[in-house]
Amino acid sequence: MNPRAATLLGATALLVVSAAPANALSASTDDRSGSTAARSLQGISQSLPLRRAAPSRLNIGSAVAGGGHHLEQDYPDPFTYDTRYRSILGKEFSSLSPENQMKWEFIHPEQDTYNFGPADAIVRFAKTQGQVVRGHTLLWHSQNPTWLEEGDFTPSELRKILKDHIFTVVGRYRGSIQQWDVANEIFTDSGELRTQDNIWLREVGPGIVADAFRWAHQADPRAQLFLNDYGVESINAKSDAYLALVKKLRAEKIPVHGFSAQAHLSLRYGFPADLAQNLARFDALGLRTAITELDVRMDLPADGKPTAEQLTKQAEYYDQALRGCLAVKGCTSFTLWGFTDKYSWVPVFFDGQGAATVMWEDFGHKPAYDTLRSTLLKATFSGPRGSRG
Ligand code: G3I
Repeated sequence: MNPRAATLLGATALLVVSAAPANALSASTDDRSGSTAARSLQGISQSLPLRRAAPSRLNIGSAVAGGGHHLEQDYPDPFTYDTRYRSILGKEFSSLSPENQMKWEFIHPEQDTYNFGPADAIVRFAKTQGQVVRGHTLLWHSQNPTWLEEGDFTPSELRKILKDHIFTVVGRYRGSIQQWDVANEIFTDSGELRTQDNIWLREVGPGIVADAFRWAHQADPRAQLFLNDYGVESINAKSDAYLALVKKLRAEKIPVHGFSAQAHLSLRYGFPADLAQNLARFDALGLRTAITELDVRMDLPADGKPTAEQLTKQAEYYDQALRGCLAVKGCTSFTLWGFTDKYSWVPVFFDGQGAATVMWEDFGHKPAYDTLRSTLLKATFSGPRGSRG
């Protein structure tokens, strides 16, 4: 049995003994006491948070809601005032990803102004909860501040702006970020570099990607540096492009440590069944892999309530995504893009769709939540599994 399973079993057994009524303990020679204990074990495992059910090599993460999830409602970050939300975030997850708070437009809103407050608060919270943090993100075509997108900068000025930003932001959180999404969504679906809408690729050129990784590594040598994208769950033109890029960067000794699939899935489409096979291609090159933004949206019926069939199918998608990660040795981080429908980005972006997370608006568990926990427990008890350390 792997050490995590042994610890979990020990702790669970203790809980069973301390929770069992006196007569159940005194009747220990009775067969029925065995089934009582088994039932208690089952009951207790059903109340284990995801992070406690998970094998020790796997971090279970959530995005930390960044506000603006209802179009007419300009509320502050739920993280700052929703105490129930915060408590579940701390209890259930071992990894946090700022949903928006480390993006350029939030953390660097004016050329000479950084706004570290919201990101600092997440990093502080993670420390108190024994959680790691995934930094998101440093080089992206979206959510850049106006001063940057509309500024009149030369290529060399832009290169210096990115370098300063990376040294400032990565440097500030040096030692506190486990994984950084250094480059986000740099390829189109057909596997071409985004040289039109990505300011860095367009104005400075493709070499800026390697520069970003080099600078991030210098700013925090211990952080694992990732390429991150959506639509790369399967083997396809886009994930092929990443594979080729990774090979090239590694040959040039650029510090690229990971490749991650966001996994914004939809019940409209089939599950990307070759997920593990795809991640294994990167694993074979010695890279870590991760699922970084998992959610599973659906078309909502007229009453807004998902059907039982939709919920079952959604649970299967979540479960298959988790199994895909568990099947790959270096897949050590599995993150949900939010855990409650209350703050999901989906309804704002996809008209008529929603219910994409594992908990209802009132934080009640959906079948997807239970399925994830059960698969995590099975993985924990069926170890041993290696870790890339
Ligand atoms: O901050 C403004 C606020 O001032 C304004 O009043 C409000 C009105 O709509 O908008 C606020 O900004 C919003 C921001 O979220 C913060 O709430 C933006 O309009 C909104 O577009 C933005 O959406 C984010 C989206 O990225 C933007 O691309 C989502 O919350 C966030 O979940 C989503 O996350 C991305 C990942 O970073 C990368 N992968 C895809 C994923 C889903 O799109």
